[in-house]
Amino acid sequence: MRLDKTVSQSSSILITGGAGFMGSHLVDSVLGDNRFGEARVVVVDDLSGGKLENVPRDPRVEFVRGSINDQSLIKRLFDQHRFRYVYHLAAYAAEGLSHFIRNFNYSNNLLGSVNLINAAIEYETSCFVFTSSIAVYGDGDSPLTEDMQPRPVDPYGIAKFAVELDLAAANQTHGLKYVIFRPHNVYGERQNLADKYRNVVGIFMNRLLRGLPMPIFGDGTQQRAFTHVSDVSPVVAGSVFNPKATNQVFNLGCDRAYTVNQLAEKVAQAMGMTPTTVHLQPRHEVHVAYCGHEKVRAAFPNFSQTTLEHGLSLMAAWAKEATIGEGQSFEPLEIEKNLPPSWRE
Ligand SMILES: NC(=O)c1ccc[n+]([C@@H]2O[C@H](COP(=O)([O-])OP(=O)(O)OC[C@H]3O[C@@H](n4cnc5c(N)ncnc54)[C@H](O)[C@@H]3O)[C@@H](O)[C@H]2O)c1
Repeated sequence: MRLDKTVSQSSSILITGGAGFMGSHLVDSVLGDNRFGEARVVVVDDLSGGKLENVPRDPRVEFVRGSINDQSLIKRLFDQHRFRYVYHLAAYAAEGLSHFIRNFNYSNNLLGSVNLINAAIEYETSCFVFTSSIAVYGDGDSPLTEDMQPRPVDPYGIAKFAVELDLAAANQTHGLKYVIFRPHNVYGERQNLADKYRNVVGIFMNRLLRGLPMPIFGDGTQQRAFTHVSDVSPVVAGSVFNPKATNQVFNLGCDRAYTVNQLAEKVAQAMGMTPTTVHLQPRHEVHVAYCGHEKVRAAFPNFSQTTLEHGLSLMAAWAKEATIGEGQSFEPLEIEKNLPPSWRE
């Protein structure tokens, strides 16, 4: 990479993972936010989880199929576009599965992120926005708040927290400005319904559409607060203009927690179907995880929370018309020991 002290700023924006679920909604939000003017958006995605059809067809958007692990690609793109803003969403986000694919998890989610951070430092990106996760809190007591010391308990959360720390170090040493969001349990239109590892709302809808019972690990008393994607993307998009967000970490999502049993009922209701469930062996997971959102509320006047009923009705209308591909098993697994039996199918 060329060391150039007079790096000129462009108005280009990089969105990694922009063919994925949250990333494609973020592209929409950026295109719809007139503070970006006529900025060009470059989406980099290896399509391992995303779909080309998710990327908006718009002359301002350029799609590049490739991996954030490809250092020469990343350097070439930064050299060509000199991104003013980077939104980094690309990741393999199957938290539960990360126990069984540790090497892949750290290569993809940690080292891939580091490639982007290096380039952002080198090319003097104005702001680096990163979607972390509440997985960083591990089994801390809910409501989880940003002043708590993160103690992630799975490789996915460990990688996310390592990237958070690396961004703080990059800021201290090189002045790279960043914003970190910890969204949680995001659901909505364009979620990959064929993914058997995540997320629970998509898995439930997939099973209902195939006339199968909704699978619940354990007794279903686990609690989560489910967040519609439309509450996330405008906040993330606008964060680069918000001085209150610079070098800050925010929980992002809904306040109200539901049990997985309650969720199954609400998903079936939204789909207009009878809620049938099957209880599987419990898996190793945090039992109760929901957050406080006072910090994001104070910093972002446009932060809103869609009710679960309304969000599910929007997603259900989309899911009934969506083409659901065949679910792929992740290969190769690095560890098979203690793998939930339903993931062997
Ligand atoms: N969905 C949630 O509930 C949630 C919650 C917290 C954080 N997040 C984070 O938000 C981001 C987006 O999640 P999502 O739910 O939209 O998942 P997603 O799988 O739909 O999107 C991730 C995208 O990244 C791409 N990708 C993966 N590895 C890549 C690589 N090496 N190079 C290029 N592209 C790659 C995938 O093809 C996919 O399109 C992730 O970083 C995830 O960890 C998601």
